[in-house]
Amino acid sequence: MLLPRDNGVYLDGTFGGGGYARAILAAASCTLVALDRDPAAVARGQDLARDYAGRLRMVAGRISEILVLLAAEEIAALDGAVFDLGVSSYQIDDPARGFSFAKDGPLDMRMGDSKITAATLVNSMSESELADILYEFGEEKASRRIAKAIVERRKIEAFTATSDLAGVIRSVVRPDKSGIDPATRSFQALRIAVNDELREIEAALAQTASLLAPGGRLVVVSFHSLEDRIVKKFFAQASGRGPGVSRHDPAGLQQAAPAKFRLLTGSPVMASAEETRANPRARSAKLRAMERLAA
Ligand SMILES: C[S@@+](CC[C@H](N)C(=O)[O-])C[C@H]1O[C@@H](n2cnc3c(N)ncnc32)[C@H](O)[C@@H]1O
Repeated sequence: MLLPRDNGVYLDGTFGGGGYARAILAAASCTLVALDRDPAAVARGQDLARDYAGRLRMVAGRISEILVLLAAEEIAALDGAVFDLGVSSYQIDDPARGFSFAKDGPLDMRMGDSKITAATLVNSMSESELADILYEFGEEKASRRIAKAIVERRKIEAFTATSDLAGVIRSVVRPDKSGIDPATRSFQALRIAVNDELREIEAALAQTASLLAPGGRLVVVSFHSLEDRIVKKFFAQASGRGPGVSRHDPAGLQQAAPAKFRLLTGSPVMASAEETRANPRARSAKLRAMERLAA
């Protein structure tokens, strides 16, 4: 979908383990700016930056700061950009990062330098604020019951570990037929809140769209319905299928650049059964893409 071209300038907004970056650099003799808010991911990219000296620039920062970060790199236009949203396998598989309810670790969940951790949220928010977060960011129907149980438990002892929290959630929510752990939705909700993920995506899409040169492509892979809804809506608006400019674009970036895009994906592209077998984490991935039209 990205179709990297020789001499093009591309952005990988979510470097992670560098899988996308490696593929882009191998596909064409292009320049790539790779961004990640996680200092561990940026450090992981240093070897690749040496292998592709002069072509790959690793930048630490958030995708909501793309305009500022690319201006600092003296990049004013992009021939394409990719976002592979959410947490990386490196983050989720490391119990010390606190994303996993399957392995015990500190209740942290920060991808980068967020000021709050998941422990701060569950130990200090009011019951109704907690319930709202679980409902809004986890689409958890049992949000009120879970929030109540969290507040009861923290009166006795504050939460410090992922296993503590997962245990409390499992004690009030029965597993359904899907086999999905009852803690899944609440952990997703807290992770989104800690990292302000949805606002990050909205800002990133608006800023990136304003930087795309004619023919430039924006490719986004999302992993759950809240992410995909934002991407779908933004793409619809940018390609003239939606109502006006987003209220999440207060700077009017989309308005300032008369961005006209063409959708490349009507329905999102999903992994085949074969790919999902080889890589079960691809199961819920949805790819959407659009292209900037000539002025
Ligand atoms: C799913 S992984 C990307 C994996 C990557 N495509 C690969 O091939 O290895 C997502 C990465 O994006 C980073 N990330 C998530 N939200 C971000 C944000 N708002 N700003 C910058 N990086 C972010 C995470 O730290 C994580 O490393």
